[in-house]
Amino acid sequence: MIISAAIAKGGTGKSTLLRALASVALKRGYAVTLIDGDVRQNMSRWAQMLKEAGNRPETLQLVSATTPREILKAAELHNSERSVVLIDTEGTTNDNLMAGLFASDIVVVPIFFALDDVTAAIQITDHYIPLAVETRGRPLPAVFVLTKQTIIDAKARALSELRAIIQANG
Ligand SMILES: Nc1ncnc2c1ncn2[C@@H]1O[C@H](COP(=O)(O)OP(=O)(O)OP(=O)(O)O)[C@@H](O)[C@H]1O
Ligand SMILES: [Mg+2]
Repeated sequence: MIISAAIAKGGTGKSTLLRALASVALKRGYAVTLIDGDVRQNMSRWAQMLKEAGNRPETLQLVSATTPREILKAAELHNSERSVVLIDTEGTTNDNLMAGLFASDIVVVPIFFALDDVTAAIQITDHYIPLAVETRGRPLPAVFVLTKQTIIDAKARALSELRAIIQANG
């Protein structure tokens, strides 16, 4: 299973969401390969930090792939029955984003519920995904994931009970 987090906007939570997905998949016994397709290499640094802290699972592999060709090659190489391949790209429109889409079985689109994020998410589903689908000739499902819910915010009345629990527990 190959999953990419994609949106041509910075800071919506792509890398954080992929780290969460990696944790869940590892816990369920899958081998996880994280492909770091972001030139800033934040994921690679994270994996290095885990290693130094003696907290990196053996079944978590990090592959640095900063060109479309490297991303496609790594995704194909590490994809198997009992593995999850996660592709992280930077929040901008570039060939790495397209390579991630092209290689994936499903795309997660993290958004904060704000106009800019929603607009960027719709660009992915209405423009870039159809391009990838046309090129590779098979469908590509996408899931929008709302991130950064402000449950601590006093305005979130519906969540006041949960907020009280969080505040009581620091
Ligand atoms: N669900 C969340 N709740 C609260 N904060 C979050 C959440 N997800 C991400 N963040 C915070 O938002 C910031 C940006 O997150 P992240 O680096 O995952 O975004 P990104 O989309 O990968 O950014 P970039 O496009 O720069 O790679 C970070 O400070 C992160 O801790
Ligand atoms: Mg990121």
